Amino acid sequence: MMADERKCLLSSAQLNKHEKHKKPNNTVTHGGIELARQKTIFVCQNCGYKAPKWLGRCPGCGVWNSFVEELTEIAHQDRGRRQHPLVRPQRIDKVAIEKEVRQKTGLSEFDRTLGGGVVPGSLVLIGGDPGIGKSTLILQVVQRLAKRGLRTLYISGEESVQQIKMRAERISADSSELYLLSGTCLEDVIDRIDEISPRIIVVDSIQTIFTDSLSSAPGSIGQVREVTNRLMNLAKVSGIAIFLIGHVTKDGAIAGPKVLEHSVDTVLYFEGDGSHMYRILRSVKNRYGPTNEIGVFEMMDNGLEEVGNPSRIFLEERSMDVSGSVVIPCMEGSRPILVEIQALVCDSSLAIPRRTTIGVDPNRVSLLAAVLAKRGGVNLSDKDIFINVAGGIKIDEPAIDLGIISTTASSFLNKPIARNTVIFGEVGLSGEVRGVSQTELRLKEAVKLGFSRSLISKKSIKILKGKIDMEVIGVSSIQELLEVVF
Ligand code: TYD
Ligand code: MG
Repeated sequence: MMADERKCLLSSAQLNKHEKHKKPNNTVTHGGIELARQKTIFVCQNCGYKAPKWLGRCPGCGVWNSFVEELTEIAHQDRGRRQHPLVRPQRIDKVAIEKEVRQKTGLSEFDRTLGGGVVPGSLVLIGGDPGIGKSTLILQVVQRLAKRGLRTLYISGEESVQQIKMRAERISADSSELYLLSGTCLEDVIDRIDEISPRIIVVDSIQTIFTDSLSSAPGSIGQVREVTNRLMNLAKVSGIAIFLIGHVTKDGAIAGPKVLEHSVDTVLYFEGDGSHMYRILRSVKNRYGPTNEIGVFEMMDNGLEEVGNPSRIFLEERSMDVSGSVVIPCMEGSRPILVEIQALVCDSSLAIPRRTTIGVDPNRVSLLAAVLAKRGGVNLSDKDIFINVAGGIKIDEPAIDLGIISTTASSFLNKPIARNTVIFGEVGLSGEVRGVSQTELRLKEAVKLGFSRSLISKKSIKILKGKIDMEVIGVSSIQELLEVVF
């Protein structure tokens, strides 16, 4: 942080302290009695109707439960002036960029997901289900940053400093530059930030921190949004990188990370289900890097461990020569990952047969089943179809189309697909097979894991440049695919 900016932050904090002792200026007198001037207002999130009190149903648009507390414009003006006394417009050619601004954490799965390291002054939201390991992950990250001499403040509204220390011992985090603070009031926390001037701040979790200026409960949409906006200001003015932890909640009463996605720089989601030890960190928004990057971790007794070669673990428990199983090289951000897709086709007892999926979009499966029936002559109208991506990973790219078609046909015909084969490509409604991006990278990853045969679109073969050490077969329609595979 630049010296004059620091001074201004400090002075604004000191100003705040003085103001607490002074007669507040947001009061009006009425008949000799002081009344607080309205500083907050409730606004319908659907139509913008404003009301001085919370209302269950909006008189403007009739929507239920849409009112959120917000600061009035008067309060906003005060706050803006206090926080930005030195921020001025700068000419673009005068703006200096420091060299190598990113700070690497050394946890390469995390760095890659962030787009190459932590950007100073950025606000990063890490969302995930409760208990998935967000606190553990972020503690490991800041521990490494602190070891590199970046002073870090870990603010927890959920746990006491003793509890954080217990977790820190488990993952052997003991850097002298790592400061812990247990607190929930934003104004207090900002005073403490001024005292120790950290370079990195963690707020765990955003739903537990509240600001004095709103009367609604911590975790409500108004609070979460306001606290995030203030932290965003702090990050931008001071150059401190801030990590926010947000619990994904099913209930509407506590605001989830979704309401914050637009106001932060980077959004990472930490996913995985309880039964699998694997955790996937996925970037869904990144102002400073590519999105859809993933980092794979495994939860151990002493914290999270990086998984350097995710394809291996996703294929680890693949069973031998059974029907309804195929391996597909998928792109996750810039990295190819091999996953197994399983299908089970069986007689249905329902009038409308089931299309149940785990890890892929059920609508896509319905569509592909229809294409397979019409163009491939495989009648699935009285069959239930179940599709599962092994390993608990979710895939959302058209390259899996051909895989889904072949594994469904394999289960229907009860004929296994050769074990050494990978299949990928997009399928159109007329049954044509189209090429997908990064064909070469996908094939190379498959070669690395010992696959010796691949089925891809005919067009993709033409654009392959380098030598691929495997048999590459091109198909142009799903009829051709079925002939080659079975
Ligand atoms: P936690 O980071 O507290 O989750 P979150 O902050 O997302 O709510 O960790 C949750 C789980 O991780 C908890 O059930 C215990 C487990 N865990 C381990 O298995 N190994 C460890 O080293 C640590 C610290 C936690
Ligand atoms: Mg936690």
